[in-house]
Amino acid sequence: MIVPVILCGGSGTRLWPRSRAAMPKPFLPLVGDKTLFEAALARCPASGGFAPPVVVTGHKHLAHVEAQLGDVEGAQVIVEPSARNTAAAIALAACRLPEDAVMLVCPSDHHIGNADAFTAAACSAAELAADGWLVSFGIEATAPETGFGYLKRGESIAVGSGAGGFRTAQFVEKPDLDRAKAFLAEGIYAWNGGIFAFRVKDFLEELGAHRPEVAAGVAEAVARGQEDGRRFHPDAEVFGRVPSVSVDYAVMENTDRAAMVPADMEWSDIGNWQALHDALERDGNGNSVRGAGEVEMVDCRNVLVDSDGPRVSLIGLEDVIVVVDGNDIMITTVAGVQKVGNLFGAKNQ
Ligand code: GDD
Ligand code: MG
Repeated sequence: MIVPVILCGGSGTRLWPRSRAAMPKPFLPLVGDKTLFEAALARCPASGGFAPPVVVTGHKHLAHVEAQLGDVEGAQVIVEPSARNTAAAIALAACRLPEDAVMLVCPSDHHIGNADAFTAAACSAAELAADGWLVSFGIEATAPETGFGYLKRGESIAVGSGAGGFRTAQFVEKPDLDRAKAFLAEGIYAWNGGIFAFRVKDFLEELGAHRPEVAAGVAEAVARGQEDGRRFHPDAEVFGRVPSVSVDYAVMENTDRAAMVPADMEWSDIGNWQALHDALERDGNGNSVRGAGEVEMVDCRNVLVDSDGPRVSLIGLEDVIVVVDGNDIMITTVAGVQKVGNLFGAKNQ
């Protein structure tokens, strides 16, 4: 059985004003009817042979998680007393599961357009994980992005039914621009999609080998934690002392057992308004529209309008993004999307 472990942390400022501290990106229906969190759950259904999910989240997001999780049978929610990053979040789930379980770690800040390709990659990844590999999903790298991890494809590994994957010859988290450009030019690097398959005992072993203080701290916080129905509360004082480090730096850059499965699944981390524009359906002029508000565009090209109510009427604009949410209106050129998080409104929500 594959156990989906859904990570729900962080707050989005780059999709302000839609994404806000009180209602961040995972809980918004950015593409289609489901929120990113609901879509992450829906990709791992019981009917597809997945075990009930384990959701790891903080107090701040608990109300949204519980509302959107619904009554999924057997689901567990681990409530982090403080945010200690992804190595600790994954370790919390690992410490609550049987040591032979295979965890499929899924972030809740992504859009995946091709669910069948996700399922196929998840099956291959789980087979490799059951053989002791620590598996990443590799996404074709199309630009020298510095916000992603890079996976260097090594020799192929065959397993059971044959699909298999590749050894990760090198894992480099968030390289600088020059290195990212060099990786892209080499052609054998993929982006790390942030989705992982680990067998519990292998993950804990590798975390213990490379970041023993994280492994030991989380184990103690779990041992002293408290059950509360389907919720579990690790000990706040012990967990608060666990070093904050991501799984990429803590484990994936250091382990000798890293593998990857290529996943061509229309993946996007929707990291900014341009990325959301790309994930939405466009009309013949490259324009896209979302939200409840009525929109009229005349002679516009490559424009995204997202309005929660007010009517938006535009003439003759090109490469522009217009967002209306409550009392906030945010308008940027496509070139300016990286700066949205620095706006006064985004920083002072
Ligand atoms: N529960 C919990 N607690 N979840 C967390 C925490 C935490 O303390 N910190 C982050 N998360 C969740 C985020 O909500 C997100 O769903 C996921 O874990 C990944 O964290 P990010 O902070 O978004 O990581 P990133 O985007 O900088 O980098 C990761 O993802 C990239 C792909 O989008 C890395 O794995 C990169 O290598 C990868 O390329
Ligand atoms: Mg992310």
